[in-house]
Amino acid sequence: MKRKLLLVALFAAFAMVLSSTVAMAAPILIKFSHVVAENTPKGKMANKFKELVDQRLAGKVEVEVYPNSQLFGDNKVLEAMLLGDVQLAAPSLSKFKKYTKKLQIYDLPFLFKDMKAVECFQQGPKGQELLMSMKNKGLIGLGYLHNGLKQLSANSPLRVPADAKGKKFRIMSSDVLAAQFEAVDAMPLKKPFSEVFTLLQTKAIDGQENTWSNIYSKKFYEVQPYITESNHGVLDYLVVTSVEFWMGLPDDIRTELKKALDEAIAYGNQVAAEKAVADKKKIADSGRSEILTLTDAQRQQWVDVMKPVWKKFEGEIGKDFIDAAVSCN
Ligand code: SIN
Repeated sequence: MKRKLLLVALFAAFAMVLSSTVAMAAPILIKFSHVVAENTPKGKMANKFKELVDQRLAGKVEVEVYPNSQLFGDNKVLEAMLLGDVQLAAPSLSKFKKYTKKLQIYDLPFLFKDMKAVECFQQGPKGQELLMSMKNKGLIGLGYLHNGLKQLSANSPLRVPADAKGKKFRIMSSDVLAAQFEAVDAMPLKKPFSEVFTLLQTKAIDGQENTWSNIYSKKFYEVQPYITESNHGVLDYLVVTSVEFWMGLPDDIRTELKKALDEAIAYGNQVAAEKAVADKKKIADSGRSEILTLTDAQRQQWVDVMKPVWKKFEGEIGKDFIDAAVSCN
């Protein structure tokens, strides 16, 4: 009898310890690091994701969002992710070349006619295949997020390719983008996003390429008197995590997180479409920068000199991927 009582007491004590351990278990921490301002498609998407997780997984998962390169710049964030120092990021698709050459497709100049074509490719079989193109390097793409089409800004008007000759342009860390500017005899310089404003302001560089929302939110238009509405390329994002973190999550949590992420991305895409119009208008209204519209003949000149870049990268990207993208136009 005494032994039985002792066993019951031991069992009760064990149960108490176990339940208090479970109750006290720290929530899973997700650090979401990005480089842009909060008032951008990516900034708003990240905050929406946090809001949804706070509502649905309170006490189980905690999301901390670090905007404006506060935690990591894009050049370091993927290494940090593989070390477990950050769990989510959404670098521009131009910033993955160390991990896969396939995503270079998104940098090919004049590949997509508009954002509808980009969406068609991303949601099609080839675009979806690319989400997993870095799995063997430890990274998984969880979804694409739009920002929009890129424009050229400079300290002098750029109407035809010859206007860019000899000028220094900041680019993201992409060999395709380097080739694109070399095709117009310009000088591309790979620099982190966090340095662009100062480089432009001090005239260490002459120009850059970016979307309306980045040009507006980072005030590039205040230090670039001309913006050519070239729509020559796309700047979109891959929401990325590490295989180790993602596959290590309990199944139910992973499912909920993916659902929240998909909803946040859909919201971010809506913001991107609105900002492409609204931020362009704010820049035009500011009077700080003149927006140049190309004639069809001028635009064709840019297409003619830049499009040969495709051939150079076709081997690394795969012709089947390029053909699938073109078929979306
Ligand atoms: C971003 O939108 O995340 C940054 C783009 C850039 O580096 O120009």
